[in-house]
Amino acid sequence: MANNMKYFIGNWKMFGVSKSISILSKINKFVKSDKKFNKKYRTVITPPNTLIESYAKFFLNQKISIGAQNCYHKDNYGANTGSVSALMIKNVGAQYMIVGHSDNRTEGDTDAMLKSKVENSLNNKLKVILCVGENKIDKKKNRTFKVLKKQIVNVLEKKFNYKDVIIAYEPIWSIGTGKIPEPKDLLKTTIFIKKILKNIFKTSNSPAVLYGGSVDGTNISQFKRINEIDGFLIGGASKSDKKFIDIIKNYYK
Ligand code: 13P
Repeated sequence: MANNMKYFIGNWKMFGVSKSISILSKINKFVKSDKKFNKKYRTVITPPNTLIESYAKFFLNQKISIGAQNCYHKDNYGANTGSVSALMIKNVGAQYMIVGHSDNRTEGDTDAMLKSKVENSLNNKLKVILCVGENKIDKKKNRTFKVLKKQIVNVLEKKFNYKDVIIAYEPIWSIGTGKIPEPKDLLKTTIFIKKILKNIFKTSNSPAVLYGGSVDGTNISQFKRINEIDGFLIGGASKSDKKFIDIIKNYYK
């Protein structure tokens, strides 16, 4: 069973309006009351940009941290209609930044853009959650490791502070489908990712590697046996306080 720090990160994607804060309040209340395990894990929610400022203010110094789901690849201010930079996101109180979610890769994010997003986020003192993952065809053709290696080495550099980098391994075929990897495959993949990271950063400790894709309160029991996994990036189930709390409860059961 786990004894190092674990992350439970809820990615709301395009979900949430002001009153959805009640979901976070219930999660926060649960974590506060969970005296037995709450020092062993961190909870983070990434709402849409429209809610970051109010949520971050409300949960300042609470058990929930707020992050963003994406940023524009150029930093500071620019003539880019509709875009938001890492600096602007940090300014409204976010502490984490997701970069490279498959939703955004599909819509045109390149490795060069992602490198710039990572760098800008780190420069603005945001912790980065870099998403990587193979699609169904890559998996079928046994290209998973090749794809993951490319996604990581093309974006991360030794000069980045590895302590502020988190990887979320999210196989695309698993996102929102109810399908999850075989535990033995997931263990192998997690070890492989950590090996690449240690190599890039020349450290004996790898940055945290999370798993994401259809995690719920039931299948979490399969993941908790793999101590190499440092936490979870949770989509659908993070939109319900009950489902999100169930994942944490069942992880530590
Ligand atoms: P689901 O948990 O809904 O599969 O989503 C995973 C995800 O994409 C989180 O970023």
